[in-house]
Amino acid sequence: MFRMPLPMNVIGARIMWSGSFIEAHCQRVLKHCRLYLHTDFHSKRFYTPRRAILYVPGDDERKIRKALSLKVDCIALDCEDGVASNRKNVARSTIRHFLDKECVSQQFPEWTVRVNSVDSGMCEEDLRVILTGPQKPPTLLLPKVDCIKQLQWFADKLSVIIGDERNKIKMNLILFIESAKGIMDLPKICQKSIELAEKSCFLPVALVIGSDDLCADLGISRSDDGYEILYARQRLVLIAKAFSFQAVDMVDINYKDLPALKKHSIAGARMGFTGKQVIHPNQVRIVQDAFSPTPEKVQWATDLIAAFNEHQLKGKGAFVYKDSMIDMPLLRQAQHIIQLAKMDKHNMQQ
Ligand code: COA
Ligand code: MG
Repeated sequence: MFRMPLPMNVIGARIMWSGSFIEAHCQRVLKHCRLYLHTDFHSKRFYTPRRAILYVPGDDERKIRKALSLKVDCIALDCEDGVASNRKNVARSTIRHFLDKECVSQQFPEWTVRVNSVDSGMCEEDLRVILTGPQKPPTLLLPKVDCIKQLQWFADKLSVIIGDERNKIKMNLILFIESAKGIMDLPKICQKSIELAEKSCFLPVALVIGSDDLCADLGISRSDDGYEILYARQRLVLIAKAFSFQAVDMVDINYKDLPALKKHSIAGARMGFTGKQVIHPNQVRIVQDAFSPTPEKVQWATDLIAAFNEHQLKGKGAFVYKDSMIDMPLLRQAQHIIQLAKMDKHNMQQ
């Protein structure tokens, strides 16, 4: 039976009334309560759209300016692989300067920064330059995550660098999984990120599949449709959804082939990915369209929900609608489509 979670003040009153002999039980209730609140907080953020994540090399001011004019859900100012080793300092200071000057805290688009990986030895300096100004990016992207020690290191460094502000700040964190080990240990990585989030200034919200690094790790070359890493992509979607994270699909590096991009984007959306990485402005519209419900799908979902409600009143849980059997899971899918459509509309109005 579904039970409404109790509000915190009611739980608190019951704890006082019951006395200390049930302290252990109370601890469990509070833990559950924190989890509930966390999930609630989380689910609100789950619908921050990241249909397209556009990489912009952090050292390229012209491209950063260009990104300002684009209607893209999420922009990743890059310190990592899109920036040459001898330009890392330029990227850091250009991003810092940009964050200080522009209003990046507004909801749309979401300005993010991809720092270098923990193992690169450059991550600490990235964080130090990027997070010590007045404006913090709302979201950080952490590449090449493949063990929980890296997450612990990241959480510790972040706390030290953010300092006294650490209790007031909660930045979204997007994790990149780009190796066989990362794919294997993904549940542990997700679990650890959630545990660390309780006391850190980040909140994990999404997983990204780093397809080209994964192929390099596996010693294979990737074909356009990514067939060789199908299992890894499906595993990432499955585990992301189990932890209520978004799942972001691989990049199409052959950026001039727009028909192929459309095909791959639709295929990715059908697999359960919530968005895709892009590298060029011309890719944005195609990708965002593919990860948005079509008007026909929205109509289907609206009609289905109305039919479902009618049948519920008649006491029927399962019924036939347009030649298909409909029950609760289909209702949930329809509700998800409506939610995506609302979110899409909201963003277009920004
Ligand atoms: N972000 C913002 N603007 C971009 C852009 C990007 N990723 N890629 C291209 N543009 C801009 C260009 O600056 C140019 O703007 P302008 O008209 O004001 O001059 C316009 O879009 C057309 O660009 P185009 O000439 O077609 O491409 P390009 O030769 O300048 O760049 C790439 C091609 C692939 C080098 C470039 O798209 C890029 O750097 N992408 C990101 C790569 C990256 O970050 N990789 C790492 C993650 S996988
Ligand atoms: Mg990579």
